[in-house]
Amino acid sequence: MSSNVLKVNVSLKNNSYSAFIGKSLIKKIQPYLKNLPSKNAFVISDRSLTVARKQLIQALKKANWKVKEIPVRAGENLKDFKNSYLIYGKLLSLEAHRDSVIFALGGGSVGDAAGFIASTYLRGVAWVGVPTTLLAQVDSALGGKTAVNHFQGKNLIGTFHQPKVVICELNFLNTLSQRELVSGLGEALKYGLIYDKNFFEYIKENWQSILKYDEKVLSKIVQRSLLWKAKAVSVDEYDNKGKREFLNFGHTFGHAVESFTHYRDFQHGEAIIWGMRFAMELSHLRGGLSHKELVAADSFLSSIPIPKLPANLKFDKLLKLLSKDKKMRQGKLHFVLLKKVGYPFSDSNVTRQNLLDAFENLKAKL
Ligand SMILES: NC(=O)c1ccc[n+]([C@@H]2O[C@H](COP(=O)([O-])OP(=O)(O)OC[C@H]3O[C@@H](n4cnc5c(N)ncnc54)[C@H](O)[C@@H]3O)[C@@H](O)[C@H]2O)c1
Ligand SMILES: [Zn+2]
Repeated sequence: MSSNVLKVNVSLKNNSYSAFIGKSLIKKIQPYLKNLPSKNAFVISDRSLTVARKQLIQALKKANWKVKEIPVRAGENLKDFKNSYLIYGKLLSLEAHRDSVIFALGGGSVGDAAGFIASTYLRGVAWVGVPTTLLAQVDSALGGKTAVNHFQGKNLIGTFHQPKVVICELNFLNTLSQRELVSGLGEALKYGLIYDKNFFEYIKENWQSILKYDEKVLSKIVQRSLLWKAKAVSVDEYDNKGKREFLNFGHTFGHAVESFTHYRDFQHGEAIIWGMRFAMELSHLRGGLSHKELVAADSFLSSIPIPKLPANLKFDKLLKLLSKDKKMRQGKLHFVLLKKVGYPFSDSNVTRQNLLDAFENLKAKL
């Protein structure tokens, strides 16, 4: 294992594993693939990633794996349950057994769907995450939340099924569009805002280098984000102890924006940037974030180039969408807010008036 490979451990009761972050580690993949039940790989891959697919498959073959590939079209539509059903069919035809290992090669859509398939196929098989977008490397590949969508809502059908290992190949990030990069940074900024002010500042200061795909900076961003995510997942594997819920910062409003635009106009992380801006306004109104901190953090978030908030999103419609969010408990909306940058809290007493004021304050800045 090369010395400049970073490692992040996820310590769990039964299913501990690690994420490895580095450059060119895919080419010598075998050292990261310990304790897997067989050397039979079924690679569910984003079919558009010709280079990454070739590299992964060649590396596995070189390490004496038997490899079969199921290329898929990435994107939210992949998480339609119909597509999972088709993929189960392919796995059956290709004779994937209980000891086979599924590899998820792609962004968050591939990881969520392939993870879901791995958790249900033959009552569950092992899987390895090979995330290729920044969003998937900093966030979605780690934590074991798998999901597909229902027409009534996103990610409503899913399981907890931890991967055996996650391999973050930095070379893959070089082909991402600026938009995809920014989307990943949305989730990374979330970690800064909820846990780590220095990290938030670091991203801010290195913004230009990031947009030039600076590897050193990107590797630090992936590592630091995953350290925070691993910490939250380690103490709350099944998201029922209230520790993992802070990771939803910005997501209630973000999901409303995504849903309002039918998942077409915003990348996930872009919507989360809007969501964090809204949550910061709300934090200030609810006696958290000071005016000074709000202005400092928001002036940076507002400078990030993302699509505009839809002008036809009216408050009543927003309220309906917020209420649909799965964080709704006992009829009450539940928000993750900030006491200050780095200090999250959950608030179940947000009023309709608070929401209206936060929305108006945010719109007044546009
Ligand atoms: N499970 C979780 O904890 C979790 C957390 C956050 C987000 N998510 C999910 O992740 C999904 C969004 O993730 P995403 O944005 O990575 O989605 P994605 O898989 O749709 O990828 C986005 C786009 O990037 C392309 N792409 C992937 N890798 C590339 C590369 N290396 N170079 C160039 N292009 C590349 C894809 O083909 C696609 O067009 C959503 O479905 C969201 O719900 C899950
Ligand atoms: Zn997210």
